[in-house]
Amino acid sequence: MGYLPSKQRYANMKYNRCGRSGLKLPAVAFGLWHNFGDTTHFENSRAMIRRAFDLGITHFDLANNYGPPPGAAEENFGRILKQDLHRYRDELIISTKAGYLMWPGPYGDWGSKKYLVASLDQSLKRLGLDYVDIFYHHRPDPETPLEETMSTLDLLVRQGKALYVGLSNYDVESTKKALAILKELGTPCLIHQMSYSMFNRWAEDGLLSLLKEEGVGSIAYSPLAKGLLTNRYLNGIPADSRAASSSRFLNPQDITEEKIATVRRLNELASTRDQSLAQMAIAWLLREEQLTSVLIGASKVSQIEDCVGALENLDFTPAELQQIEAILQ
Ligand SMILES: NC(=O)c1ccc[n+]([C@@H]2O[C@H](COP(=O)([O-])OP(=O)(O)OC[C@H]3O[C@@H](n4cnc5c(N)ncnc54)[C@H](OP(=O)(O)O)[C@@H]3O)[C@@H](O)[C@H]2O)c1
Repeated sequence: MGYLPSKQRYANMKYNRCGRSGLKLPAVAFGLWHNFGDTTHFENSRAMIRRAFDLGITHFDLANNYGPPPGAAEENFGRILKQDLHRYRDELIISTKAGYLMWPGPYGDWGSKKYLVASLDQSLKRLGLDYVDIFYHHRPDPETPLEETMSTLDLLVRQGKALYVGLSNYDVESTKKALAILKELGTPCLIHQMSYSMFNRWAEDGLLSLLKEEGVGSIAYSPLAKGLLTNRYLNGIPADSRAASSSRFLNPQDITEEKIATVRRLNELASTRDQSLAQMAIAWLLREEQLTSVLIGASKVSQIEDCVGALENLDFTPAELQQIEAILQ
């Protein structure tokens, strides 16, 4: 018997309108940056996707280079789609990106038309799809004219290979310029994907207010600071954690006593709210509907369940918000 998704899957998830578009996105989205490559256990990856969908997570986020090796996450997700979710394609928002190094030579990186067109074609093949829902430019390219990159995003939408386009890692100034070009071309930017967590608040410095003003959605990646803003590292570095397995992305040296002392205080506050720290970190990002979605990662089904549980308490008292600020000082 194949996979049958839960009939209750839309009962508890919250869906937020993405900027001023027609699209709603789940308040918690799931990203496949880690734990979907060829070095991880395929059945665990598959179980995470199925459970996420059962919990109402309709949005899965990829990039051309997610693996390892680069491309493997798209391939593995393509397999899971084929095995379990192909009948539910119209219930899914699948995003991918290009902008980082993908293949050797001058055409496999950054933001040229040559790279973006070829990369999305490759992604669609790996995913086994005719189109993605959102195609992002993954990072600004200081050398390619912004007009070239943006008109390529517009072209890919007109070709039917992507329904919407997004920007990732663009700062306030480059976002402003890119939004204006996309608007002029008639393919307004749907969403901006930025790093944002209690430990990384650069987006509060102008970006979020710009997006709100322009009616563009916002999705925060690494909302748990790659695992730091959870109970994961309270008692050392577990052998199965990201810090133990890929120091390139979460360096054990950065998990200092001082940082853990802060995490411990946040964890205590979370427990007074009857939440895990991961749940409080997610609820804090979603406070006052300042974001469309948070984009979590996970290595286990139980982590996804815990994160989605954040939606049961998104409210903070002014005193709790003050306490969080004091702890983060
Ligand atoms: N646009 C960009 O440039 C960019 C960059 C980075 C990420 N992203 C996107 O954002 C997604 C999420 O990034 P991220 O994985 O860094 O996000 P994250 O949610 O900050 O960190 C995820 C890690 O936190 C731990 N975790 C998650 N839930 C937990 C829970 N309830 N309790 C305890 N630990 C928990 C797990 O660590 P362990 O693995 O150690 O168990 C998990 O792998 C990516 O998959 C990708 O789609 C985009």
